[in-house]
Amino acid sequence: MEVVQQIAALRRQVADWRRQDLRIGLVPTMGSLHAGHLSLVRRACAEADRVIATVFVNPTQFGPHEDYARYPRSLERDRELLAGAGAALLFAPEVAEMYPGGTVDGTRVEVPELSGILEGQFRPGHFAGVATVVTKLFNIAQAEVAVFGEKDFQQLAVIRCLVRDLCLPLRIIGAPIVRDADGLALSSRNAYLSPAERTRAPVLQRTLQATRARILAGERGWTGVEQQAFAALTASGFVPDYVAIRAAGDLTPPGPDPDELVILAAARLGTTRLIDNLRVSVPR
Ligand code: PAF
Repeated sequence: MEVVQQIAALRRQVADWRRQDLRIGLVPTMGSLHAGHLSLVRRACAEADRVIATVFVNPTQFGPHEDYARYPRSLERDRELLAGAGAALLFAPEVAEMYPGGTVDGTRVEVPELSGILEGQFRPGHFAGVATVVTKLFNIAQAEVAVFGEKDFQQLAVIRCLVRDLCLPLRIIGAPIVRDADGLALSSRNAYLSPAERTRAPVLQRTLQATRARILAGERGWTGVEQQAFAALTASGFVPDYVAIRAAGDLTPPGPDPDELVILAAARLGTTRLIDNLRVSVPR
């Protein structure tokens, strides 16, 4: 597997593949890879002839008090894992390569409506950073298809929205969350958890499952159901930012007779902020 750090070198390889009529898939990541990321690469390999994986810890999607500096980085290990999963090329640029106009004053991509809610309320500017870097990667890689994990459910919605609004010629695939045996969604940030916190962390997923059970049992007072879940997390030692029941399609608050819902939660356990979500298909 080739490793490339310069945009010009990536473009040359992409042009060569396109001349051969090969379909290109893209899997953007911030590295520190786990089985969830590798499932995205395998999914992309099933959809494309050549898969580009990117490893770039994107500074513009971190707030000033977030973990950009300490975000786990393990490029050599990532390279081996990506090669094993079938990626054809790893693009791992430096910050100056991706942000020639700087990270503060450079051009930004905004997806206003979806970016101010849920995660956006607690991480102002986060989705502008994601939307900007993902648009750059789409532009550089010229892929037919890009695969993202459903664990970042709102991020996936933001990316689908920008692809639609900017008329970008690629297909977005959302791939299912990969979980540890005890239900904890895989995340690079799980590495921050102490052993005691790691033991407690699956309570987040179990709380979402209990919330889904209430909805399936017929409860429709959305705010009350959200508050119960919030209280259950607090009682288990989490500091929740939100638990929200939303329409799965556009993340708007559901009406009284919904069909596809998603329950989304973000909560801190010690210094680690975890997010998770669970889909609910409400029978008619
Ligand atoms: O999900 C991530 O790892 C990042 O937000 C992404 C999509 C690679 C953009 O930096």
